Order: sequence, then structure tokens, then C-alpha cells
Amino acid sequence: MLSIRNLEVAYQDVVHVLHGVSLEVERGAVVALLGPNGAGKTTLARAVSGLLPIHDGSVTGGTIAWGDQSLLGLDSRARSAMGIAQVMEGRRIFTSMTVEENLVAGGFTKSARKHLRDRTEDAYAMFPRLAERRKQRAGYLSGGEQQMLAIARALMSGPELLILDEPTLGLAPSVRDYLRGVIADVNSRGTTVLLVEQNADLALDVSFYTYILEAGRVVHDGASSELREDPDIQEFYLGIHDGGRRKMQDVKRYRRRKRWLS
Ligand SMILES: Nc1ncnc2c1ncn2[C@@H]1O[C@H](COP(=O)(O)OP(=O)(O)OP(=O)(O)O)[C@@H](O)[C@H]1O
Ligand SMILES: [Mg+2]
Repeated sequence: MLSIRNLEVAYQDVVHVLHGVSLEVERGAVVALLGPNGAGKTTLARAVSGLLPIHDGSVTGGTIAWGDQSLLGLDSRARSAMGIAQVMEGRRIFTSMTVEENLVAGGFTKSARKHLRDRTEDAYAMFPRLAERRKQRAGYLSGGEQQMLAIARALMSGPELLILDEPTLGLAPSVRDYLRGVIADVNSRGTTVLLVEQNADLALDVSFYTYILEAGRVVHDGASSELREDPDIQEFYLGIHDGGRRKMQDVKRYRRRKRWLS
């Protein structure tokens, strides 16, 4: 289980972004982290995968543990050796390399090397579109295909915990639906998933449990099936109330806070 307690994160030691975030991801689950731009979702993902230092960020308080082992003080390489993989925001694949070379690069940890062939075949079975394009330069793939490749590459290390940072951002609805299926599929094969999303529809649909993060704090959490039925969530995140999706910026923060905290 991933267990985060009272996490505080700052950039450049002065920009405080997370203010006491607590969150749990049970092994085998899909947990969603939902929230608007700038809430601190990516920051939390980096804190778990160990990528904060390269962004000049650091954990200034609280704990992060994977099972009974603290992750604090371990670099990203050590965390990936423990089975934690992150697909970064914006699908950072190696654009000048082929699809296959990208996959091989993802499977190049010591423990993954002996599974390279099997996992490459698994990736192609999961993403037939990548199989058709295995010799093609990754930079020429469509946005959706690049996201598939980013996920497939992360899976090459055989992670126990996969962190996905806004995997469907900017993609067409059909591709989004496809990736929703992929997430469920990856999870059904035994990988625990922490899904960072702004798309409430998708996040609440594919996850078991959801945390809502705003301005560096968890403002609401619960079973995803219950959140889907919650009138506040419907109003503010699903836009069901009057036929149109409301922009987060349009919502009066004060009113939302007051209701959730009452
Ligand atoms: N390297 C950095 N240095 C300083 N501030 C940063 C850095 N990275 C992020 N921030 C700030 O931290 C806050 C949270 O950013 P973060 O990227 O975690 O939000 P997010 O929820 O992922 O947003 P989005 O949905 O836009 O991706 C923002 O105010 C952002 O400007
Ligand atoms: Mg982000």
C-alpha cells in the first residue's frame, strides 16, 4: 500500500504547494486524484516517484511509504527498482527513437532486462497500433499513440504501482475511452494505479476511490461510486446540473469550501 501522511512540498524552499496531504492507495486498487490546474496533482505524483529534486522541489514535512518502507530519501531510480513507475504529464517519449527502441529503453532496469522480449510482446498485444508501428519514429505517432507508448514504456519495468499524470489530456473522446479500457486492463492484471486527472468523468468511472485536491489540500474524498452520486460533485466537476459543464474558474470557491467542510 502507498501511504502518504501530512505531506508538505515546496519548490525552491519557498513556494509551498502541498499543505498536509494525506492519501492512501491500497494494493490492487485504482485511486484517482482529481483537481483543477495548479492544485498540486503533478507535485504529488513527483513526490511519490522521486522526481521532485529535478524540479528543485522537496518534501518539507510528512511521510510517504510504500508498504512498510519509507520512500523519503530514496531517489527515483531506487523507487523504480521498488516497483514504482510514473508516466509523466505530456507523454515524454523519445521522439527520435522508434516505438520499439522506446519500449526497450523502458525495460532496461536490471530486473526488467530478462523479461524484455515477453514484455515487448505483451505491450504489442495490449496496443496493436504500436505493433503496427514498431519500426516507426515515435515522434510521428499521433497524440493518442504517443500516450499509449508512454504507458507501454512504463509497463516494461513491470511496476507494482503505476502513476499516470493526466493521460487523456487533449485527446479525442474515442482515444480517451480506449485509454480508460487500458487502465482497467492494466489494473486487472495486478498493477495498482494512481490516476491523476482533471477529467472527472473518466476518473470517477475507472477508479475505486477518489481524492479531490484543491490549492494543495485534499478537500474531499470518498468511494468513486458515491462521489458520482454526490450533488456537489455533479455540479462542480461533472457539470450535470444545467446541461453544461462548468469551468472550475467559474465556481465560487467559497461556496464549495463551505459546503464540503460543513
Ligand atoms: N518547478 C516548480 N517551481 C516552482 N513552482 C512550481 C514548480 N512546479 C510547479 N509549481 C507550482 O506548484 C503549483 C502546483 O503545480 P502542479 O503542477 O503540481 O499542479 P497540477 O495540479 O498538476 O496542475 P495541472 O492540472 O495544470 O497539471 C502551481 O502553482 C505551480 O505553479
Ligand atoms: Mg499537472
